[in-house]
Amino acid sequence: MVNYKKMEKKGGLFVIEYRDGVFGIHGQTVSMLLRVDPYGLLELLHFGEPVGTEDACAFDYRPGLGWGSSILLKDGDTASCPDALGLAWSGPGRGDYRESPLELAGSSADFRYESYEILEEAIPMGCGLPQAHGEGETLKITLSQEGAKLHLYFSVFGDVVVRRTVLENTGEDTIVLTKLMSSLLDLSGSYEMTTFDGGWIAEARPHTVPVLDSRVVNESTTGASSNRHNPGFLLSEPGAGEEYGRVYGFNLVYSGNHYAAAQRSLQGLTRVVQGISPSSFLTRVEPGAVFETPEAVMTFSDRGFGGVSQAMHRFVQEHIIPAQWNGKERPVLFNSWEGCMFHFDHRRLVSLAKDAKDLGCELFVLDDGWFGKRDDDHAGLGDYDVNKKKLPHGLKGLGEKIRELGMQFGLWFEPESVNMDSDLYRAHPDWALTDRFEPLLGRHQLLLDLTKQEVRDYIVDKVGSTLDSAPITYVKWDMNRHSVALGEKAHSYILGLYEVLERIFVPRPHVLLESCSSGGNRFDLGMLCYGPQIWCSDDTDPIERIAIQEGLSYLYPQSTFGAHVSASPHAQTLRATPLVTRGNVSFFGCLGYELDLKHLLKIEKQQIREQIALYKKYRRVFQFGAFQRLEGGWQVSGEDVTLAATFRKLVPAAPGYERLRLRGLDREKRYRLSTVPQQLRIGQFGSLVKHVAPVDLDPNGMILRIADRHITMPDGALEITASGAALMAGARLLPVFRGTGYDQQQRTLGDFGSELYIIEEVGNERS
Ligand code: GLA
Repeated sequence: MVNYKKMEKKGGLFVIEYRDGVFGIHGQTVSMLLRVDPYGLLELLHFGEPVGTEDACAFDYRPGLGWGSSILLKDGDTASCPDALGLAWSGPGRGDYRESPLELAGSSADFRYESYEILEEAIPMGCGLPQAHGEGETLKITLSQEGAKLHLYFSVFGDVVVRRTVLENTGEDTIVLTKLMSSLLDLSGSYEMTTFDGGWIAEARPHTVPVLDSRVVNESTTGASSNRHNPGFLLSEPGAGEEYGRVYGFNLVYSGNHYAAAQRSLQGLTRVVQGISPSSFLTRVEPGAVFETPEAVMTFSDRGFGGVSQAMHRFVQEHIIPAQWNGKERPVLFNSWEGCMFHFDHRRLVSLAKDAKDLGCELFVLDDGWFGKRDDDHAGLGDYDVNKKKLPHGLKGLGEKIRELGMQFGLWFEPESVNMDSDLYRAHPDWALTDRFEPLLGRHQLLLDLTKQEVRDYIVDKVGSTLDSAPITYVKWDMNRHSVALGEKAHSYILGLYEVLERIFVPRPHVLLESCSSGGNRFDLGMLCYGPQIWCSDDTDPIERIAIQEGLSYLYPQSTFGAHVSASPHAQTLRATPLVTRGNVSFFGCLGYELDLKHLLKIEKQQIREQIALYKKYRRVFQFGAFQRLEGGWQVSGEDVTLAATFRKLVPAAPGYERLRLRGLDREKRYRLSTVPQQLRIGQFGSLVKHVAPVDLDPNGMILRIADRHITMPDGALEITASGAALMAGARLLPVFRGTGYDQQQRTLGDFGSELYIIEEVGNERS
């Protein structure tokens, strides 16, 4: 049995133990059992369902292999065939022909078990990589070969196991390392791999492929964790669903080039490796020095994708984002970008801030364009001196004005890049990252070489002194190009970035950091260690955002999503969507508004006021409630309320029954489910207005246009009281408009419509 006494002592969260030759790593819903085999290889006996350490005997037997073309560690002992073993570490050139977790510039490696230690804490990294924090125990297993040791660290936090590898050079020669993974696991069984892929304005699209005998790879080689392939991925048994089935979740605490691969072996093991991408990776580890990998994160649930998401969400909140932001409500913000772009001055910003305040926004963010000669994106990056033409009172004057209005003030920076048309580049052309070829620009800019101390010092000084010069409580840290010319420097660049973030933000814990990289080009656990939220995507079209936020929700909690309402029709898709849908999608994240307020109608302003008031009322639940993906919508649940939104794409011509199947309610309790009331715009009916209202109006005429600006009609709203069992079975929703005129007993919102439902407990009495 697991030592529950020890778990209790530790708050019931985890235990690591060594018993009868087996290492047991136990979280609440997950266990990992490891054993050293007679040849000193580290075997993975089990990773998955919680079991006892003494249950190792259930995973004891191995296929008797080792004939034919295979290699044996001991001639004659068929159990010593490394290619057939289920391992937690391996190496190249010694008979295991599956993927190797390390490469030493082409030579073989034969690390065997040396010792272990169980430590009562998470062991700090020495190299400046971010890592999971909080109370956790750590198992350190050391393997060695002549001239080198490998320390494998396993920590457990709640339901999540975190793992990393440290190579120590104990010899006299430099070790040239071309690959070192954070984790290797040989899981029993066959799986499908789900990755989250995409590109600019189309991030985090889930794709699922079976893991067969060829390697399936999830990798980024852009220098950032990338919008192409998020470092997080899932392995699930075929047939797993939201609430059932065995699913593993994986991620990496890293913002640079990452790599993960899965491949099934003939014996039915699935090898999973995770770490820094070996593409262009090369590092020299000098005698006496160490190289540390980022932390690999892994969890398991037998309650489907939803179970994995909930474990990962808790982990990110409690052990990844800076502790001061855990559970701390985030302000509703207004961002100047989509409304103003580069064209603003002090007066326009103050006027926008007044309007934003009147709507209920709490934080005013000045985006790009406030410094240097930054009137478009060709110039000025790198020159963080305020543009006095636009802002004659400086950031201090603007910030104080905004504070006087009762709002917080936030600022955009893009410190890692430089335009060639900038004073910084003219003074220090050698600070830009280039190779021996003609420089390649992305968004008219180059990256600064963050591997150079003087560059890091410049950024820390410029950003730090700007933050201290005005009442700034929020920073949007952007990075708008994929890198080239990084080569071997890719990892040192990321270490440089982490140093800069640490030096700027750790001494200023009051500053809320939202990172951004053309939207979600660096949406990863590494960045989240410095700032608790990330701008998910430059795509704010709500229909696109449903896909993006839903993709991210598999591995990241909604409080990490910067989610804004923007103008309709949308700048990227030209799609017109109802304001209610734009609001409902953004509610499931850190809500913001990013549009030109001066063009809003009075009725739209009123609708936004109501949206913000509702969001503030339920903010804790929207930001930190347990999130679930539903059929056609999302749900968040707090202690005493559940909120569920349904999202529609196209309205069918002959709509059928529609139901809302909630999750996680108490079957016995009774709940009131009610629609958040919403209004229909008259203009939406065009020439049909005579069918829906008792008047005959010219659809292109002035009267209808005026009426559209002032008159709204309530849409159908559902109100029922039923048991949790019934609501989880699926309450039938009001019928959808089907050519029969306006009726308050139906939902008339049309294409891209959405509803929000509030579900509150009303006790056990039947009513
Ligand atoms: C990037 C960001 C946007 C905005 C612009 C400003 O595209 O993703 O949100 O900040 O830069 O130039």
